[in-house]
Amino acid sequence: MKLYVEPATRPLSGTVTIPGDKSIGHRALLFSLLSQTPIRVLGLGDGADNGRSAKAIAALGARIERDGAALVITGTGLDGMCRPTMHVDCGNSGTTIRLLCGLLAGQRFATTLVGDESLSKRPMRRVIEPLAMMGAHITGQGTGADVTPPLTVGPVDRALTAIDYKLPMASAQVKTAILLAGLSAAGETSVTEPGPSRDHSERMLAYLGAPLVTHGLRTTIDTRGWNRHLAGSGFEVPADPSSSAFLVAAALIAGAGEVRLPNICVNPTRTGFLDAIKAMGGAVELEDPRMAGPEPVATVVVRGAARELRGTEIAGDLAVRSIDELPILAILAARARGTTVVRNAEELKVKESDRIATTCAMLRAFGIACEIHEDGFTVEGRPDRPFDPARVHAQGDHRIAMAAAVAGLVASGATQVDDADNVATSYPGFASALSGLGATIRSE
Ligand code: S3P
Repeated sequence: MKLYVEPATRPLSGTVTIPGDKSIGHRALLFSLLSQTPIRVLGLGDGADNGRSAKAIAALGARIERDGAALVITGTGLDGMCRPTMHVDCGNSGTTIRLLCGLLAGQRFATTLVGDESLSKRPMRRVIEPLAMMGAHITGQGTGADVTPPLTVGPVDRALTAIDYKLPMASAQVKTAILLAGLSAAGETSVTEPGPSRDHSERMLAYLGAPLVTHGLRTTIDTRGWNRHLAGSGFEVPADPSSSAFLVAAALIAGAGEVRLPNICVNPTRTGFLDAIKAMGGAVELEDPRMAGPEPVATVVVRGAARELRGTEIAGDLAVRSIDELPILAILAARARGTTVVRNAEELKVKESDRIATTCAMLRAFGIACEIHEDGFTVEGRPDRPFDPARVHAQGDHRIAMAAAVAGLVASGATQVDDADNVATSYPGFASALSGLGATIRSE
């Protein structure tokens, strides 16, 4: 699939319903499998990645029924899962495969997890190593630098062993895999992170009654005296802040009459991009704050003509809290006056593409000067003249494709984005949402 974008000729305006948050959607599906009561999931997004988690839980014995706008999931509980009759295909979804490793680590049967070309290159040792310390059996491909899918998880014939694990990188996927395995371990399983990765698992597992406590960067599952019962009645999946970031950025650089994005998850572990935008001098407002179950949500509003942004530094905890938004923040940096430096973001290299390389290749295609570092990149902003019209190869990465399409709004001619099929993994309606705000974009 290709995206074709024309320069914006007028400010963007309108209200967009952003689909459900991908991270929370995966957890709503996978954790519902563990529940002993049916769970009503409202607001699940239509992205292919969440679809992989839905198919996976169905293969493990969950019943999924549609009831109006909701899905009703009847799970199996921790001890009632069925052995899948086929390989479980995780597609492009790192969250599906890594969370399944934790969820299946303590099971009495073996499951084989496969993925697409990109997922088959992604590092799995980060989950395999701690889970093996707990007594899990997980094998994968490769003997060299890392282990990659296909993976075979299980079987084990006894309870897992609790560990006290210090994560080498801030990763919600690895943290969650260990906590899920901890449900099948005897005693106290603890994970300590070097930085604040997203905490949806902690919020949602606690809601289901898991014996979980968090103190700062350390989370513990203590199964002593616990009856292995998880139950709840519903999960409301708020709109995805990572998807919203593309429309927020579009409204900031093309200018906005008023762009309103209701019901966005504003959990502080996800709003680093809003903090970075504020540091750049961009004006984004949050209205109608409320709680959607355990998650805070708000309407994200951008109004007014494009105003000049300034370069900033994105490093440390801020880089962790904006990790998925760094490609689109790079486009804002390219419109800002001065230099923006992104550091401590080496995790970008092992996302759906090597996002340090693909973000810089995208910037250069638009004529923007940038420099690649071991743990990030530097962007020289160009606020005074439009970007060069570009043809960008998205390298199969949804976030690169959407960032390039947004950049096309402030180029001096038409932009073409190749290899953009994977936009469907997180935000299938992206092009029509942007065109609904008044942009000229088509996909074909
Ligand atoms: C995710 C965690 C992050 C993030 C990914 C989704 C999750 O990955 O980049 O898009 O849902 O737990 P890491 O755990 O590898 O940091």
